[in-house]
Amino acid sequence: MSAVASAPKGLEGVVAAETEMSFIDGQKGILEYVGIPIGELSSNSTFEETVFLLWNKRLPKQNELDEFTQNLRKRYELPKGMEQRVTSLPKTAEPMHVLRTLVSSLAMYDSDPNANDVDAAQDKALNILGHAPTIVAYFDRHRRGLDLVHPDTSLSFAENFLYMLNGEKPTETMARAFDICMILHADHGLNNSTFTTRVIISTLSDVYSAITGAIGSLRGPLHGGANEGVMKMLNEIPTVDDAEAYIMGKIQRKDKIMGFGHRVYKTKDPRATDLQSLAKKLAEDTGNQELYAKSHIIEQVMERELGAKGIYPNVDFYSATTYHCIGLKLDLFTPMFALSRIGGWAGHMLEQLADNRLYRPKAQYVGAHDQPYVAMSDR
Ligand SMILES: CC(C)(COP(=O)(O)OP(=O)(O)OC[C@H]1O[C@@H](n2cnc3c(N)ncnc32)[C@H](O)[C@@H]1OP(=O)(O)O)[C@@H](O)C(=O)NCCC(=O)NCCS
Repeated sequence: MSAVASAPKGLEGVVAAETEMSFIDGQKGILEYVGIPIGELSSNSTFEETVFLLWNKRLPKQNELDEFTQNLRKRYELPKGMEQRVTSLPKTAEPMHVLRTLVSSLAMYDSDPNANDVDAAQDKALNILGHAPTIVAYFDRHRRGLDLVHPDTSLSFAENFLYMLNGEKPTETMARAFDICMILHADHGLNNSTFTTRVIISTLSDVYSAITGAIGSLRGPLHGGANEGVMKMLNEIPTVDDAEAYIMGKIQRKDKIMGFGHRVYKTKDPRATDLQSLAKKLAEDTGNQELYAKSHIIEQVMERELGAKGIYPNVDFYSATTYHCIGLKLDLFTPMFALSRIGGWAGHMLEQLADNRLYRPKAQYVGAHDQPYVAMSDR
């Protein structure tokens, strides 16, 4: 066997790109977007401003933010013909499959889908960012047998999504909570779906293919799909008093507990800290204290049992309670992650296009050599 060194399994620790978007210190639990601590952004910024920051590597002036926001709002409505595509889908489809398929089909409504100079790519990314919430909300209403609620361009990204979903404008508290979730999920280094985006666009394929691939990556239960896993787990625990025994059972069986552990963080994910306060407040406001209490006990038991191994809550743990309190159905949790992460995927795609080199690593062959070809009749 050759002595070629293999990359670590799962490419752990391998630096495969440079970025100016997010900085993560997994030991200290630090996350910054363009140098600004995530907590500062979740306290003071909006999702629209955060996307501008990620794409331009600076905060916008007021007129720039207004222009960016207006430009995004113009893209809320779907291209003619797309609405009919949504309403012809099977009502049993999973929203992540719907989002992936329809984001891909947006390419067919673009007169120049393959243009991928940085300006064209940014324009297409804005299209996808504007259309994606409408796809999800239209599909959810279609499957519930309700009339579609068309976007309202006087509303922010967060307000408009909840409006299209529920048919009424959200309260300020709900809209702000959702906006904060969008800020917190927008970017996170070279996670699996972001890497997917970069790998696809590095072939000079098109923006739609790159984002479609990323959505496929995100839905996996080890990535963005974990938030749905957290909610299922919380629902399986009958009462707060059962939470400790339930988790201890899982730990003893060596089950993976969704919403815990991270390839990069070996302490509490700073996004989990922000989401925890949000989840606590929303749970009180919406009578879901029991749900929050179960989560809190799980966190305490996990810290006691597995804290020494560096397994702490990640972004998905408290986002489950938060989304539930906002009134979102379980299978919309991962699509919510996707809506926000489109901002991050697109930013990485722009960075990749600005200084592209085709991703093409090697696989180390570990199989046999010089084998005979055995005739079918002799096998
Ligand atoms: C995120 C994740 C895939 C990171 O995985 P990774 O870096 O490959 O880490 P590993 O799966 O190799 O885990 C290392 C050790 O910690 C344990 N571990 C990791 N996450 C765990 C979890 N959520 N629950 C229980 N044990 C866990 C593993 O069993 C392993 O133990 P071992 O050394 O005794 O075999 C993993 O922590 C996980 O599956 N978490 C649950 C899913 C989740 O919440 N994903 C969202 C991430 S934002």
